Amino acid sequence: MDFYEVVARRRDVRAEFTGQPVADDVLARVLGAAHAAPSVGMSQPWDFVVVRDPVTRKAFQEHVAGERDVFAAGLTGERARTFGRIKVEGVLESSLSIVVTYDPDKGAPAVLGRHAIADAGLYSVCLAIQNLWLAATAEGLGVGWVSFYREDFVRDLLGIPASIRPVAWLCLGPVTHLGDVPDLERHGWRTRLPLADVLHSERFGGK
Ligand SMILES: Cc1cc2nc3c(=O)[nH]c(=O)nc-3n(C[C@H](O)[C@H](O)[C@H](O)COP(=O)(O)O)c2cc1C
Repeated sequence: MDFYEVVARRRDVRAEFTGQPVADDVLARVLGAAHAAPSVGMSQPWDFVVVRDPVTRKAFQEHVAGERDVFAAGLTGERARTFGRIKVEGVLESSLSIVVTYDPDKGAPAVLGRHAIADAGLYSVCLAIQNLWLAATAEGLGVGWVSFYREDFVRDLLGIPASIRPVAWLCLGPVTHLGDVPDLERHGWRTRLPLADVLHSERFGGK
């Protein structure tokens, strides 16, 4: 696949996982792509926890179901009805999970480029995640990012130290297909904005 095709084909996957295994060499390439991401001060503040244990994944999935209920409880009317139709995770249907964490102490104290913007470390982790997502797409795999969780729950579940943040729980694996349209768009939750709506000339708001 050419690069722009990978970008266009990437989807957040929930319902389309087959549960078939991911070959070790493929997983190594996908993780290698994540680890090749740019990072502030070359701090490489990420770690990747590969979770295969069904017991661990079931415990996470139950926690996510509870957080889904928390979010749903704040919705009314059309939003509540629309959200009711949306699946927000494929934790058990996918082949495995990769939890990506952020450790602000890596490369510290003198992280070059982070002195004024503390979040630059977090941005770096998100770039690793995007590399992983695109590499998985190029390999014909699906990825689903799950963020319906409390960080402390995931810390406890996986033995992550208190100073390290679990940034993403990613479900990974072969899929029946990647949808042409994002799930949230298909269900009428939100649509992708036209590029022109987010483009500014010279100054914010400039046409
Ligand atoms: C930070 C972040 C957190 C997300 N959390 C969830 C989630 O908990 N559950 C879910 O179903 N999708 C989640 N998504 C996926 C988005 O819903 C999805 O990217 C968006 O609807 C656009 O669809 P696409 O990725 O298929 O283009 C998350 C995406 C990001 C970037």
